[in-house]
Amino acid sequence: MSISQDPNWWRQAAVYQIYPRSFADADGNGIGDLQGITSRVPYLNELGIDAVWLSPFYPSALADGGYDVDDYREVDPKIGTLEDFDEMVAALHAEGIKVVVDIVPNHSSDRHEWFRQALAAGPGSPERERYIFRDGLGEHGELPPSDWESVFGGPAWERVTEPDGSPGQWYLHLFAKEQPDFNWDNPEVREDFLTTLRFWSDRGVDGFRIDVAHALTKNLEETLPKQAELGQLGTGADGFIDGSHPYWDRDEVHEIYAQWRKLFDEYDPPRTAVAEAWVHPERRARYASPEGLGQAFNFDLLMAEFDAGKFQQIITKNLTEAETSGASSTWVFSNHDVVRHATRFGLSDSTVTPEHGNNGKPGNAWLLNGGHREDVDVDLGLRRARAATLLMLALPGSSYLYQGEELGLQEVGDIPAEARQDPTFFRSRGAEIGRDGCRVPLPWTSAGSSFGFGEDGAHLPQPGWFADYAVEVQEGQQGSTLELYRAALRLRRELQTEESLEWLKTGHKDVLAFMRPNGWVTVTNFSDVKAPLPAGEVLLTSAELNDGMLPGAATAWIRRTSLDATVTGMPEPRQRSPKRSGAQ
Ligand code: NOJ
Repeated sequence: MSISQDPNWWRQAAVYQIYPRSFADADGNGIGDLQGITSRVPYLNELGIDAVWLSPFYPSALADGGYDVDDYREVDPKIGTLEDFDEMVAALHAEGIKVVVDIVPNHSSDRHEWFRQALAAGPGSPERERYIFRDGLGEHGELPPSDWESVFGGPAWERVTEPDGSPGQWYLHLFAKEQPDFNWDNPEVREDFLTTLRFWSDRGVDGFRIDVAHALTKNLEETLPKQAELGQLGTGADGFIDGSHPYWDRDEVHEIYAQWRKLFDEYDPPRTAVAEAWVHPERRARYASPEGLGQAFNFDLLMAEFDAGKFQQIITKNLTEAETSGASSTWVFSNHDVVRHATRFGLSDSTVTPEHGNNGKPGNAWLLNGGHREDVDVDLGLRRARAATLLMLALPGSSYLYQGEELGLQEVGDIPAEARQDPTFFRSRGAEIGRDGCRVPLPWTSAGSSFGFGEDGAHLPQPGWFADYAVEVQEGQQGSTLELYRAALRLRRELQTEESLEWLKTGHKDVLAFMRPNGWVTVTNFSDVKAPLPAGEVLLTSAELNDGMLPGAATAWIRRTSLDATVTGMPEPRQRSPKRSGAQ
């Protein structure tokens, strides 16, 4: 299959996120690599995705899973070479799969050549001007320039030792201390990122995912506000919807993306970009505009409980927002930063609990309580996850899938402290458990070293129960989650239509139904009792039908024959049965 030249390929793409170090390990060093990805192109092709998005594969000490980049125009030798990269892109393109790579422009790693030069050159030098260095407060500069906390916990300023050995200036790092923030007022920084974007675009990369896209430009000219005035860092700029926050979501950031857009549009087809921007929903449209990055993530479904009313509200709101920006909407349930949705939906406390830290992400309370598998209703979680995914794949816009979710993989909640890698765990001294549990290498086979991930173990420990989720076990198995994803992605291509939907009346609050313009109907039953289905041809269901009815926590795709906007014959559901302990 040749790679599509359609400039709008991204608008309704199914994008599969690969966390390279945990996908497939070809050279058997315990860390996933690019050759591993290439070896699994047939699997990706069979899955039926339109694009892959690769989390960072650049040289890195892995202080933050690769989001601490040493060199933006190289491949980590632990992962491969630029030649491996080219081969991987060629193999993916040969199957018609687009390639999106992660760009991390807010910060480099502290091993980046520029940061080393900044340390060596000393205060006042042009080298220091590429980052954000300040003198400290106090008589001897011994206090940080402000009391700001980093997103990962602990102070956001780190003091350096000057070349002469004396205690010196401080640099800003909104994330780990190994991730110094760039100074985006410096034209050299701007120029260098243009070079990087060109470098990968010239190598055939089709698009970019922009890490913390809302953080680049900063105002540190005025007296720095106190942490207490900033609100909770990392939750986005909810309290600051006017662009007045010193570092989140400032209006000037869009000048950068306008420049990037010009560069993207020089290519044919234009390179795409999607912003990771945790900003107030009203301010998201600017990131997603055609003059800017073109698309932005919304994490609203990812943060939501399995609830019909909430889902409907989120979907409606985001479709309206997408119309405002001119972009298509994005949908996502899982990624490398959150508890996998098959687990979240099986928790009794999966709702957002800001007091539990890590930006109040769902599932954190469970992690903090030990992340025990016994506390998860695994069956219910999986049923809901399958239902939710089937609903998502029918929505207008792009769906972002995270490696392993096609296996119904659960979060590994109980990784021992000594095996953990995520800086959030260490910086918060265990008050945050971190994100390692969704980054455990994939099980390809039910036996063998690291369940077929590689020849020599896995860099994060895989529990024994991973065997049950292995690709090998699910392949060709009717009803398996892998086969459900394959069937859904195949059908999705066939059924794809204009970017709109119409809600259908279902008669009860726990059942949602919508229809796309070509009569593709999706019905999701959020209750735990069966519900009737509208007339039409049943194309796919996330769970077996029960006497022709849709069971609880299930979704069906139906081809409608009549375009009437009411789902007839759906009586009120019976009383909900009592909740199982541990269930939501
Ligand atoms: C967002 C990324 O998704 C996350 O994994 C990373 O830790 C932070 N940005 C910092 O780069």
